Amino acid sequence: MLGIHGSPRQGGNTELLLQEFLRGCRDASAEVEVEEVFLRKLKISPCLEIYACQKDGQCPIKDDMKPLYGKLLEADILAVASPIFFYAVSAHLKAMIDRCQALWARKYLLNQAVSPGRTGRKGVFLAVGGSKGAKNFDGALLTMKYFFDALDRTFDRSLLYKGVDAKGEIWRHPTAMAEAYALGKKIVEENAE
Ligand SMILES: Cc1cc2nc3c(=O)[nH]c(=O)nc-3n(C[C@H](O)[C@H](O)[C@H](O)COP(=O)(O)O)c2cc1C
Repeated sequence: MLGIHGSPRQGGNTELLLQEFLRGCRDASAEVEVEEVFLRKLKISPCLEIYACQKDGQCPIKDDMKPLYGKLLEADILAVASPIFFYAVSAHLKAMIDRCQALWARKYLLNQAVSPGRTGRKGVFLAVGGSKGAKNFDGALLTMKYFFDALDRTFDRSLLYKGVDAKGEIWRHPTAMAEAYALGKKIVEENAE
């Protein structure tokens, strides 16, 4: 189980939400290994369009993305949390996603299995937006759909909350934290079946 925190805000709404999801995962099974990555603490360059990855599926940029590729591919469940920024995911998360063009190239240009021998791996997306716009999550959901596809993951489920803006306000949402905990628990139990 890998949890990716995409917000620049420490202790913010998506961080709290993902941590509650991960608490559910841990409570479902003592055996589940949970790793958390805070993108705000890492140095990840945007994609520089060098296109070297088209030749060998490897990104030549040497930064904190290097050890993340393996983790993104190997985790049975990948849970990604992001605030909505201008109807999209955060820049921290988008930089990481764009660097996964190397995995897209492996899959679609080089016809390589991105994670040989592993099937049924899941992706979950948790997002929070401050406004109440009807299309608040459309942009981010499209991005996440194609991101999980590049990783050969099933986009299993998402939890999306709007109208939650101030730091920590997610705790005052009537259902969000309970739903995140329940989903974490459920997804680990389903994976064990
Ligand atoms: C740069 C920026 C852009 C934002 N754009 C949107 C937006 O398009 N739609 C929205 O609903 N909220 C928007 N927000 C509000 C955040 O999504 C909201 O405060 C959220 O709760 C932050 O989550 P976090 O605490 O995990 O970072 C924006 C906030 C910032 C700082």
